[in-house]
Amino acid sequence: MAVSEHAASPAGRSRYAVRNPYSVLPNWLYPAFVVIALGLFGLFAIWVVFFQNRGDFYPYVSPFYSPLITVGPIPPGVWVAWAPLAFRLTCYYYRKAYFRSFFWHPRSCAVDEPKRRYRGETVFPWVLNNFHRFAFYATVVQVGFLWFDAVIAFDFHGRFGVGLGSVILLVNVLLLSGYTFGCHAFRHLAGGGLDCFSCSTAARARFQLWKGVSVLNIRHDRWAWASLFSVAAADIYIRLLLHGFLVDPRWIS
Ligand code: FES
Repeated sequence: MAVSEHAASPAGRSRYAVRNPYSVLPNWLYPAFVVIALGLFGLFAIWVVFFQNRGDFYPYVSPFYSPLITVGPIPPGVWVAWAPLAFRLTCYYYRKAYFRSFFWHPRSCAVDEPKRRYRGETVFPWVLNNFHRFAFYATVVQVGFLWFDAVIAFDFHGRFGVGLGSVILLVNVLLLSGYTFGCHAFRHLAGGGLDCFSCSTAARARFQLWKGVSVLNIRHDRWAWASLFSVAAADIYIRLLLHGFLVDPRWIS
């Protein structure tokens, strides 16, 4: 996100003022949004994963609990949440967002930052960001389970039905798929390392896949936020059903 800044120029600031689509916004708005939204989501996720034992309400399963694994007293979310957590923490977009917003490192492009020795992602803990591709593999498996959950959310004791929860879980997995399969690492897996896109059937197939991933990738930040909110919304909805605060409106054939 660009902020309202002026190009450095010996000829003076106003003459070379840079206008951009975001220039009418105060420059604290984006970092404040990131800090508040990620901070609240982080606290909510900790509460759900470590301090809750239920996240299912037939036939719905919270995305924090899928696949549902119950072993001893360990909360089910613990077995699952590490994969999407690692995926988002190491995501190229989120890295930009939290480096800029939490650490001002830097706050924006071409903006000065507190003087610190910059070592990129070569030292702990930031070096772990280089494992993003492996987090992608784990998350693809989890998205597969979420698609299964979305399908069975339309199955009410063997009869087809549609509940508000079915729709929420379906929208959630669509948004998560848009986010996951627009991943920069997946885009490289699809089309990277090739010298020629048309020299073989496999290369042509990879080119088509790369083009598809690129469509999602171009709005990766929007998919990231939309899917973050949908995960929280799906879990909150199921939790409200679980505790009797809501009744799921549904139609069953
Ligand atoms: S770059 Fe964002 S999920 Fe891979």
